[in-house]
Amino acid sequence: MSQFDYIKEIAKHGLDNDQDKLQSVLNELVEHSKKTKKVNFAIQLQSILKDSIRQQSSSGLAKVGSEKYYQKIDDKELQDLILEKITSDYSLENIIADTKVNDELKYFIEEHQKIELLQKYNLPVSNKLLLYGPSGCGKTLASYVIAGELKKMMVVINLGAIVSSKLGETSKNLSKIFKQAALDDSIIFLDEFDSIGKVRDYGQDHGEMKRVVNTILQLFDYLPQSSIVIAATNQREMLDSALLRRFDNIIGFSLPNEEEIKSLIKLTLKGGNFSFDKKTNANKIIKESIGLSYYSVQKTLITAIKRSLFNEERSSKNVHYKIDTSIWKNLIKAEKMSLAK
Ligand SMILES: Nc1ncnc2c1ncn2[C@@H]1O[C@H](COP(=O)(O)OP(=O)(O)O)[C@@H](O)[C@H]1O
Ligand SMILES: [Mg+2]
Repeated sequence: MSQFDYIKEIAKHGLDNDQDKLQSVLNELVEHSKKTKKVNFAIQLQSILKDSIRQQSSSGLAKVGSEKYYQKIDDKELQDLILEKITSDYSLENIIADTKVNDELKYFIEEHQKIELLQKYNLPVSNKLLLYGPSGCGKTLASYVIAGELKKMMVVINLGAIVSSKLGETSKNLSKIFKQAALDDSIIFLDEFDSIGKVRDYGQDHGEMKRVVNTILQLFDYLPQSSIVIAATNQREMLDSALLRRFDNIIGFSLPNEEEIKSLIKLTLKGGNFSFDKKTNANKIIKESIGLSYYSVQKTLITAIKRSLFNEERSSKNVHYKIDTSIWKNLIKAEKMSLAK
């Protein structure tokens, strides 16, 4: 959807007084804004949403989509820093990755499921994880999976937003977040971790940024064993060795190969309501989509499903629909063109 579509939806549900739909469109817009890198807008909108959710519900939990739950953040000062606080139902089955990445994730999760066993024998627990790799390949998803598997809350912190806004209070607020996360036993997810190496581009005070980096290093060094920090970056080369050394595990994500694209499609179609009209066409398109991210492949496929559904639904009473592969083919083509620009 374009921004105008969102505004229209918001107007409609607002005027209809349909709170549930309004909230869900606003949440979609937050996601959309994050994806299109309008992070400050996303944070502001999210903070408006949170205020309203807080007033509405005493439980503090609002359901968003089917698999993520957002929780209120009480501390006013921290609201600018924290993008969201979520729990998730995601599990390892929701992520497609090569065996190496999969194993690394599994072992990391297992360490925390069996933390008492490790502690009994005085073995150190890995709790600082760096995820790197191209955009749309599952870094954020992997952090949801870890949170879901361990049934922990996760605090999402966008370092990109910090660097471009209030640098001065960042050190203090980061310390506060780490302390609170340890008390709440929640995971800290530092997205756009490379931003801390990028300060000069933003024309910010360099001394202040150094302080933030030092704070992060210290927080890492004194992190309690049961706390978990996950950092993600598309640009691992922006991180210096002092930072890289702090991580217990570094996991690299990559663009999907043919097999992985097939697995992603299987996962996306697992509901069983949709299948391809022509298998051979689908196989050809799969080959053409090599080089695109998981996100791009899945997004175009879902769009093709929706459009095929609209076309077919008029003429049939089926519960099973065929995905028009010519629609998907064009979407993949358009996606490749738009990324090549
Ligand atoms: N490895 C993957 N397996 C399954 N789905 C994926 C994978 N990578 C991305 N996706 C899909 O694309 C969406 C965006 O991916 P995300 O994890 O945000 O990418 P990143 O953080 O690496 O930029 C996910 O929510 C998921 O729907
Ligand atoms: Mg991400």
